[in-house]
Amino acid sequence: MARIICAGLGPGDPDLISVKSDRIIRAGQTIAYFRKAGKRGQARQIVEGMLRADAVELAMEYPVTTEILFNTPEYNDILAHFYDGWAERLVALPGEVVVLCEGDPFFYGSFMHLYTRLQGRVDIDVIPGITGMTGCWNATGVPITWGDDVMTVLMATLPEADLVQHMGQSDALVIMKTGRNLPKVRRALEAAGRLDAAWLVERGTMPKQRVMKLADLDDSDTPYFAIVLVHGHGRRPEIAE
Ligand SMILES: C[S@@+](CC[C@H](N)C(=O)[O-])C[C@H]1O[C@@H](n2cnc3c(N)ncnc32)[C@H](O)[C@@H]1O
Repeated sequence: MARIICAGLGPGDPDLISVKSDRIIRAGQTIAYFRKAGKRGQARQIVEGMLRADAVELAMEYPVTTEILFNTPEYNDILAHFYDGWAERLVALPGEVVVLCEGDPFFYGSFMHLYTRLQGRVDIDVIPGITGMTGCWNATGVPITWGDDVMTVLMATLPEADLVQHMGQSDALVIMKTGRNLPKVRRALEAAGRLDAAWLVERGTMPKQRVMKLADLDDSDTPYFAIVLVHGHGRRPEIAE
């Protein structure tokens, strides 16, 4: 039976990869990772310099990313076919395959689509990782949740009205998959009265990290790979004088 190990890579800084993932990645004979066609791939970039010289690399290139609307049957069919195909290829490989996954694999990670297809057919191990949002709130230097704060994680792909509703109900907010949805996120935060408290972290923990208040971001600026955060402000003991 083949064995698949999905190694969580953490938020981007290779020093934040767990000891276990580091060990598995460095020893891996076959290394697979997702990437946008024509790009190097975020996961592959994180492990630069770590792979064995004779490692075989399998780049699993998404057939579509933003070319087709993600909530259409067509998009769903193309992606389902893509994951089916890769699941069959991985099962057929002899020995162990290490699949790289940014952040934590079970937290909005593409690997989950392979996981559900491979379960019961091969041995699968999933190594947890520090999530991207953890790296991002750390980069702001401000604690994210206090006392009984409620934190909500939102995908910027949600309809604007849903974003506004959730934003109005939570203390701390994490908004991922911002990309071209950023103007929508900004409008929703403004409608929920949270825009002035919002931060944007681009490429958190990576070499070109950028941390700024969202309100200070110029309209023409289109951050790549970013998370928007609103810190909680909950119950906490006063600092003794
Ligand atoms: C498909 S999700 C993958 C989440 C990943 N499994 C995790 O645990 O963080 C990708 C989204 O996470 C966010 N993201 C993840 N890591 C990030 C980082 N280091 N800096 C900024 N955004 C990040 C971006 O919003 C990106 O669109």
